Amino acid sequence: MIYYFSATGNSKAVAEMLASRLSDKVTDITPLLFRPSVEYALGAEESLGFVFPIHGWSLPSVISKFFNKLTVTGYRQQYVYFVVTCGDDIGIADRHIRQAMPAGLSLSAGYSVTMPDSYVCLPGFDVDSDEVRHRKFAQLPSRLNEIADSISARRAVMDVHHGSFAWIKTKVLGAVFRRYMLHDDKLFHTVGVCGGCGTCVVVCPLNNISFEENRPRWNGKCIGCLACYHHCPIRGIRYGHRTRHKGQYTFSKYADEVKE
Ligand SMILES: Cc1cc2nc3c(=O)[nH]c(=O)nc-3n(C[C@H](O)[C@H](O)[C@H](O)COP(=O)(O)O)c2cc1C
Repeated sequence: MIYYFSATGNSKAVAEMLASRLSDKVTDITPLLFRPSVEYALGAEESLGFVFPIHGWSLPSVISKFFNKLTVTGYRQQYVYFVVTCGDDIGIADRHIRQAMPAGLSLSAGYSVTMPDSYVCLPGFDVDSDEVRHRKFAQLPSRLNEIADSISARRAVMDVHHGSFAWIKTKVLGAVFRRYMLHDDKLFHTVGVCGGCGTCVVVCPLNNISFEENRPRWNGKCIGCLACYHHCPIRGIRYGHRTRHKGQYTFSKYADEVKE
């Protein structure tokens, strides 16, 4: 079983492409976030994977919450792994993920996959250029083959891209970012062109967006995943003034560029 969480589609695509290589099945974590508990009966020969994006050089808060809800029955040291998708690097997120694992499960392996960047809310951060996106997609099939081979062989590895200043990114910069910026949805607003289509309401994994006077309203439970911003069909959602000149990205828009 591969559980995945995805805001802009990268982690969903990675989970599905891995599942097809491993003849495994996938389950979206999002609807499970609203259940008080989740139980999974793990088969004796089965592996258990978790695929999700990196947020602020750590795991998204919803993944920690999901891990707290999840009980795995039939666990006898089967192979348990994570695959994180990131724009650049993960810092020391692997340590946080290991600490957050569901009670009783121990991590056998971890992998990272570099995908197009989805973070746009700070100066200097934007979606990737066409050239960078093409380069990342060109490497994707062979990277997924590598990971699938490693999972099939049940290798105990930590095959992730920590990047430079990994500790500082996760423990200092990321800690401030996650504490003070990531969950603050007060700066989200729509610009005049919003037609009230409701896409943002539907794609928000936390059901945090309601509609008032035909416009979205953010209600303070945001995890900062930017699903609303990137999926808006008319680029009508802004985060303060910081995203005025920033791009949009969803995997589905560029899926044809991945040559499997
Ligand atoms: C709030 C936020 C924080 C992010 N932080 C990082 C980061 O620390 N390092 C990184 O390489 N990419 C970071 N990214 C980029 C995403 O991890 C990357 O684009 C990921 O593939 C998105 O996955 P998804 O499409 O499944 O949501 C961040 C994206 C968002 C929205």
